[in-house]
Amino acid sequence: MTVPRNAFPATGIDPDIAYQIVHDELMLDGNARLNLATFVTTWMEPQATTLMTESFDKNLIDKDEYPRTADLEQRCIRMLARLWHAVEADDPIGCSTTGSSEACMLGGLALKRRWQHARRAAGKPTDRPNIVMGINVQICWEKFANYWDVEPRLVPMEGNRFHLSPREAVAQCDENTIGVVTVLGSTFDGSYEPVAEICAALDDLEYRSGLDIPVHVDGASGALIAPFCDPDLAWDFQLPRVASINASGHKYGLVYPGVGWVVWREPTALPEDLVYRVNYLGGNMPTFGLNFSRPGSQVVAQYYNFIRLGLEGYQRVQQYSREVATSLAARIAELGPFQLLTDGTQLPVFAFTVPEEITAFSVFDVSAALRESGWLVPAYTFPNNRTDLAVLRIVVRNGFTHDLADLLLDDLRRSLPRLERQSMPLQGAETSSFAHGAGSAKAGRRTAPSPETATPPEKVPSPQTQR
Ligand SMILES: Cc1ncc(COP(=O)(O)O)c(C=O)c1O
Repeated sequence: MTVPRNAFPATGIDPDIAYQIVHDELMLDGNARLNLATFVTTWMEPQATTLMTESFDKNLIDKDEYPRTADLEQRCIRMLARLWHAVEADDPIGCSTTGSSEACMLGGLALKRRWQHARRAAGKPTDRPNIVMGINVQICWEKFANYWDVEPRLVPMEGNRFHLSPREAVAQCDENTIGVVTVLGSTFDGSYEPVAEICAALDDLEYRSGLDIPVHVDGASGALIAPFCDPDLAWDFQLPRVASINASGHKYGLVYPGVGWVVWREPTALPEDLVYRVNYLGGNMPTFGLNFSRPGSQVVAQYYNFIRLGLEGYQRVQQYSREVATSLAARIAELGPFQLLTDGTQLPVFAFTVPEEITAFSVFDVSAALRESGWLVPAYTFPNNRTDLAVLRIVVRNGFTHDLADLLLDDLRRSLPRLERQSMPLQGAETSSFAHGAGSAKAGRRTAPSPETATPPEKVPSPQTQR
């Protein structure tokens, strides 16, 4: 029998055979647990999996038909709003999304609409909005700028500065700036951007110029790490300038993909004209989102995790990941031919490079060698102005234990003599066997650099910046 690939088969087949065909093909995918490239959850407790299978037939948008699922969503929003110190945490403004990308779009849209309202009220033009961020932002922010006609002002990396800094952020701001995006932490190397310092620099700008520019914190990963592991770090709504925060429930929220969250500091941060009302228990419930239908299962699983782990459990799980990351980073540094850029002390993520004096092999060779043992460790080049720098990045997640880290280190150590015997690097950015998510290149212009894109070329001004 030939497996149909391109057209509907004329007749169907037995369900067991169909299952086996699909199952067997999927065996050829990489092993999700060994995927050290992704931030997304690859292990959940069996009880959570059971709850998910019990609820993926419920459409999350049918609030009236599935009021208990709708209520679990609201409970999660209240828990996150309180965790992030929102102003009205008992009655917060927020929603679930398919992931951080959608959450960032909504955060950005609210910034744009607020800016438009304020400009119109002042009798000023609204045709040239811009948004300020580091070049290290995840590709979703470039999509936001592209899809909603906002000029992206991307601050390049410089020297050993691999993310946004207060001075550079403020230098890009003007009366058309709808907001500044700060990332906790950077997809490229796991480092936290200095949210409090950026807010303070924007306070100073307001004092000097009257420009009041809000901040969105893209806490895709860090908004569910910092509250548990860095309770003294000021990065959330405790900073008055922070207008909105997003997180991926499916990253360090510890739920299978796809669920994300976005919360606004107070009702005025989300303009009312962006909100729609849906029927809910005879009344109506405000909704804001780009999608309509979605399975209820991810939200159900998120609520399960919140009550199953509590503050103590999340702290324990995230701290363990951090310990694995910092210990593995230190031991990789001790091997000799590697240099750490970050050490896992912020996100449980670290990036390391092969220094210039090593001429036998490249980070891309290391990635290829590890892949031979099943480990998926991406190698990629940094964006402007550090396109000369190529790194490997390891993301430590729940389920990646010290024991697995030992095995990874053994494989890395074992591969070194062979790599060191090479007369020159065999793999470059172009030939790398592992291009994690390299399909994120955008139509119409060259792709923005991102760790999701193994060979990010140089930034090209968007149509907006060429105006
Ligand atoms: C900082 C940051 N923002 C946004 C995203 C997009 O998140 P999602 O995959 O949940 O859409 C990512 C993904 O890695 C990220 O690291």
